[in-house]
Amino acid sequence: MPDKELTSAQKECEIWAVAGGKGGTGKSFISSCVGVSLAAKGKKVVLIDADLGGANLHSFLGINKPKTSLTDFFESRAALQELIIPSGIPGMGLITGNLHSLASDDIKYVQKLKLFRHIKALDADHVLIDLGAGSHYNTLDTFLLADKMIVVIVPEITSIENMYHFIKNAMFRKLTILFKTNGLRDMAEDTWKSRNALGIKNFQELVDYLKGTSDEIRELLDKGLAGFKIHFVLNKVKNNQEISIGLSVKSVCMKYLGFATQYVGYVEHDDCIRSCINNRLTFMRSYSSSRCAKEIEKLTDNLIEGKQVNLMRY
Ligand SMILES: Nc1ncnc2c1ncn2[C@@H]1O[C@H](COP(=O)(O)OP(=O)(O)OP(=O)(O)O)[C@@H](O)[C@H]1O
Ligand SMILES: [Mg+2]
Repeated sequence: MPDKELTSAQKECEIWAVAGGKGGTGKSFISSCVGVSLAAKGKKVVLIDADLGGANLHSFLGINKPKTSLTDFFESRAALQELIIPSGIPGMGLITGNLHSLASDDIKYVQKLKLFRHIKALDADHVLIDLGAGSHYNTLDTFLLADKMIVVIVPEITSIENMYHFIKNAMFRKLTILFKTNGLRDMAEDTWKSRNALGIKNFQELVDYLKGTSDEIRELLDKGLAGFKIHFVLNKVKNNQEISIGLSVKSVCMKYLGFATQYVGYVEHDDCIRSCINNRLTFMRSYSSSRCAKEIEKLTDNLIEGKQVNLMRY
C-alpha cells in the first residue's frame, strides 16, 4: 500500500545533512544559522535534529526541547509533517530526534529509506539534518542519502583527521551498499581486509584496485561515486592563516581519498554565540550584522549556488 502521506504529487524538498567526525565543531550552530539564513531568503525550511545522544538544536533557537520526536514516526507511525514544531523563526520548523530514533540498531536500511521518502515529501524547500558526531552507520546512511553532504570542521589537526576518517567511513559504507545492492556481496570489505597483501594503502587505491577487477565493476563505481561531493565549512577561525587551512584540507582529501571537496565557507570565532545560547536568543537575529552572520549568509549562498570560498582576496 502506498504511504498515505506521499500520494499527493508535490515538489520534493532538498535535503542537506550536516555532519563531522568530531564533537563540538559547531554542526548544530551552523545548521541552525544556515536554516535561519535560508528562511530569511523566503525559503520554507525544516530543521531535523538527528543527533544520536545530545539533541540540542532547540537551544540555538532559544526554544524548549520539543516533546515529540522522530521516535513517534518510527514507533507510533505519526506523520512526519505533524512532528514539526515552530522554531520561532518565520518559515522554519523543527523536528527533534532522540537516542531511540536514529541511534537504534533496530532501524533497518528500508526504514531509513522510508524516512527519507517522507522527508522528501515534507512541505518545505529545504530540510537540514543536524547529525551527531561519530560514524555510527545510521549517521553515515543519513549523510549519504542527503542531496548535499556538509561537514563542519575547526582548524585543528584532530578535527581535520576526524573529517578524513568520517569521509572515508562514509565512502566505505557507500561502496559496501553499492556492492551489496548489485549482487557483489562483501567484495569491498574482503578486499579492504586483504589490503596489506594487495599493497593497497588508502581509499583511493582501494577504489582503483576494485575498478581494475572488471569492466562491470569499473562502470558501477564510476556511476555510483559520480555524485559523491563533500562540502565542508571551517568554523571558529581566528585569522587568515586559519582560513587558508581549508585549502590544505582539500588537497589532503584529493590525495588520499581521490576526489575534490568543496570548501564552501568559513565562520569566525565569535564569543557572542555563547551568550546568545545562554540568553535563549537566536544568533542570526540578534547579531545579524556581525561578521560571523555575514559569513554564514555567504556560505549559504555558496551552498545554493554550488560555489566555493574565494581565497584570492586573502
Ligand atoms: N563560530 C563559533 N564561535 C564561537 N563559538 C562557537 C562557534 N561555533 C560554535 N560555537 C560554540 O561551540 C560549542 C559547540 O557547538 P555545537 O553544539 O554547534 O557543536 P556540535 O558540533 O553540534 O557539537 P556536538 O558534536 O556535541 O553535537 C557551542 O558552545 C557553541 O556555542
Ligand atoms: Mg550538535
